[in-house]
Amino acid sequence: MKFFVDTADVNEIRELADTGLLDGVTTNPSLILKSGRDIMEVTKEICGLTDGPVSAEVTAMDYDGMMKEAAVLAEIADNVCIKLPLTMDGLKACKALTSAGHQTNVTLCFSATQALMAAKAGATYISPFIGRLDDMGIDGMELIEDIRAIYDNYGYDTQILAASIRTVNHVKDSAIAGADVATIPPSTLKALGKHPLTDKGLDAFMADWAKTGQKIG
Ligand code: E4P
Repeated sequence: MKFFVDTADVNEIRELADTGLLDGVTTNPSLILKSGRDIMEVTKEICGLTDGPVSAEVTAMDYDGMMKEAAVLAEIADNVCIKLPLTMDGLKACKALTSAGHQTNVTLCFSATQALMAAKAGATYISPFIGRLDDMGIDGMELIEDIRAIYDNYGYDTQILAASIRTVNHVKDSAIAGADVATIPPSTLKALGKHPLTDKGLDAFMADWAKTGQKIG
């Protein structure tokens, strides 16, 4: 499973990229707002921190406007992935951009039929929003399972990018359900490798090691 980090905070991205475990980055207008930075400037900086795809979202609502903005965003760097909303105009732009050789991420997906439409439009990634469905009392993970089944039925190669992740269990369950990628907030990504028994065990080993009076090398 690939891990993307869902943030426009360059310090968080740099720290995670340094681990060698980061496969890409997703941003959205709300994350750009949170960063307090100019979209062009911060996206360029992020693209320099990872070789993986960096999703940058268009903000126009109509096809022509989306295509104009996509052209501007695509100029930033080769690893920009154009993020488009799941609307008819967004799907039309997805089809055109994919055909022109761009990576595309269709976002704000909340149903399996929407995901089917994105695959037909040739999307590189489809972003089902798990957490926002869970927030409404709807099981977001069922959506991942349904999309996996549909894409496998027809051999679509659109990658399922589990988004709106809130918990470590969201990542685990997405992996079990067969999502190709998870885009994860920095704090949740760092928590994936944590366990209190690991910390406790390490403390005990280090205490015993100190008592040996030895050192390695
Ligand atoms: C995905 O690409 C989105 O940026 C993100 O996962 C949305 O998450 P949220 O529901 O926590 O805002």
